[in-house]
Amino acid sequence: MARSSSSFVCQSCGAVSGKWAGKCESCGGWNTITEEGAPAPIGGGAAKRVKGRKFALEDLKTEDKAPPRRITGVAEFDRVTGGGIVPGSALLIGGDPGVGKSTLILQALASFAAKGGNAVYISGEEAMAQVRLRAARMGVSDTPVALGAATNIEDILATLEGGARPDIVAIDSIQTIWTSALDAAPGTIAQVRTGSFDLVRFAKSSGAAVILVGHVTKEGQIAGPKAVEHLVDAVLYFEGERGHHFRVLRAVKNRFGPTDEIGVFEMTGRGLSEVANPSALFLGDRNNVSPGTAVFAGLEGTRPLLVEIQALVAAAGYGSPRRAVVGWDTGRLAMILAVLDARGGLGISASDVYLNVAGGLKVSEPAADLAAAAALISSFAGRALPKETVFFGEISLSGDVRPAPQAELRLKEAAKLGFSRAFVPVGTRIEQAGIALEPVRDVTELVALIGAEQDAPRRGRLAS
Ligand code: TYD
Ligand code: MG
Repeated sequence: MARSSSSFVCQSCGAVSGKWAGKCESCGGWNTITEEGAPAPIGGGAAKRVKGRKFALEDLKTEDKAPPRRITGVAEFDRVTGGGIVPGSALLIGGDPGVGKSTLILQALASFAAKGGNAVYISGEEAMAQVRLRAARMGVSDTPVALGAATNIEDILATLEGGARPDIVAIDSIQTIWTSALDAAPGTIAQVRTGSFDLVRFAKSSGAAVILVGHVTKEGQIAGPKAVEHLVDAVLYFEGERGHHFRVLRAVKNRFGPTDEIGVFEMTGRGLSEVANPSALFLGDRNNVSPGTAVFAGLEGTRPLLVEIQALVAAAGYGSPRRAVVGWDTGRLAMILAVLDARGGLGISASDVYLNVAGGLKVSEPAADLAAAAALISSFAGRALPKETVFFGEISLSGDVRPAPQAELRLKEAAKLGFSRAFVPVGTRIEQAGIALEPVRDVTELVALIGAEQDAPRRGRLAS
């Protein structure tokens, strides 16, 4: 029998196997498997099991009202957490290295401490001096945040349990935390999980809110935030495209709040600044409109958001046509193209197609279909869409345009930003001052409205 002193664990998905392999059988990741110390055998193995202690089972009734919240004062952050962090809960903030997680956390803690809260920041990556420099750059040096640089979980817990009970503790990052109880190197699944578990337990027992920072990793050299998502109460991801200044904080799991809210920030030379009205940011300069751009009246959580969708349809070269999509779903684009061909009679599928959501935002709402279709048709026909127009509506496989929720909110935002016309699903009966509604039944009608029919290229009702 093989020696069972150690096992091989995929750092990406956590699958355990008995031998090393270049490729993980379970998730298909390459070079993600590392050797780790043997886990305790299931069922107790050689160690004697202790006899369990009885605990009382109770009913679901509660005297507690809505959980109290710890409001940091960084409004965009508080919005995404669902109105502040819940005491005793654990929150994970994931994101690519360098996106600004440490900056965001320090900003939130500083703001919380400035209001009189007890905030602790434990940095495992940066030395005290580096954190202080960052604080100085952000202009928060004078806020009473308690700062520590440590990576050993036993040290961290001893410090936290020994001092005054903190209201919020941030650990930056879980990949640097290690326990002396394990042989594995910091950053391995075992270390990350054990450390996070201890911190979550500390949150529950002490009532402190714990914020864990986790780097998203593609190579699988260290365990990513996915490894601890199940342990925590809320998971937020901090996203941003390289080359763009704005950052989006998005909730993907929240036991105490909604998961569709986003917070928008702009990275400046002095930390992150909150963007209360993101539409203006994502729309950019719309003075000269060229074919292939359409404005989508979208919704992110409770907040309307206008974004520009850009399409380029070009004659294909050799072989199968190229598709490149940024900020939208590739499968969704394939579907829209197929529907435009089959129901709209366009013949667009043979061309190279590029689709981009301006500003680097990621759009996941089905209601963006109509705007994407309009941008594609516009580029294909070489006709710019009328300038002050927004679009929303979901497109079904039959080519019908289906209603989208919260039409009123979308139209209001469009009117506020100076748009005067909206392509909407039929049946949208909302009066919005300053906006003329253009109901669209199906893609055939959309093609006709834009004036892109092949036999009558210049007959469109919107010809300008
Ligand atoms: P950081 O918070 O260190 O990222 P993470 O913790 O997610 O790895 O932020 C890194 C980037 O942010 C870095 O490239 C510098 C930039 N930055 C600014 O532009 N302005 C600032 O005020 C700060 C503090 C950072
Ligand atoms: Mg950092």
